[in-house]
Amino acid sequence: MIVAIDGPSGAGKSTVSKLVAKELGFSCLDTGAMYRCIAWKALREGVSLEDAEALGAIARTCRISFVHGEGEVDARAVLVDGCDVTDAIRTAEIDRAVSKVSAVPAVRTSLVEQQRVIGRAGNYVVEGRDIGTVVFADAEAKVFLTASDEERARRRVAQNAARGIGSTDFDTVLADIVARDERDSARAASPLVAADDAVLVDSTDLSQDEVVARICGLARERM
Ligand code: C5P
Repeated sequence: MIVAIDGPSGAGKSTVSKLVAKELGFSCLDTGAMYRCIAWKALREGVSLEDAEALGAIARTCRISFVHGEGEVDARAVLVDGCDVTDAIRTAEIDRAVSKVSAVPAVRTSLVEQQRVIGRAGNYVVEGRDIGTVVFADAEAKVFLTASDEERARRRVAQNAARGIGSTDFDTVLADIVARDERDSARAASPLVAADDAVLVDSTDLSQDEVVARICGLARERM
């Protein structure tokens, strides 16, 4: 079974997906981390973010892996060609680069293929932007998770402060989030859009527990 959770940046998808997966006894796949890995490798190798062919080649050849502890839902580390990039893919520099990389069709083709292989291996909560529309268009349960721009920026600032990575300036974070959402929504290839059959969950005024309970309830109805 696949529970697809899509939505804009900072809506709480990652935290909520892990909690839902834990509650249901499912595994969890963070597809945004995979796009971040390609952006990280491109920047490291000095590849231009305008060079679609080179970005496509990186996506086809680099090995992305998630390291899990025994029975853990949450990936303990993300590796690119064996190199630990867990923190390196969460910087403001990657935040700004990633939506250029993810707009390249050849990058998407390679990553979607890998995501389908991973997701079909068991019961998964898969989070991203195009999971319910493209990657698993036949997912049993689909959620489009949103929150107001300000609330998403507030949460991202708190998350960056806790991790000690990225900006903690509210206005900078808000501007970056809005710019990234615009690029993700306006791109030609698999834009950020709710699937027709997705259940819309606006988490602006909901507690984390309420969001998790709502999504688990939906998933159980569809089991
Ligand atoms: O979820 P996260 O913010 O880590 O995603 C980073 C970026 O990866 C998004 O802004 C988007 O450009 C891209 N992405 C995507 N499709 C997905 C997941 C993420 O295009 N399924």
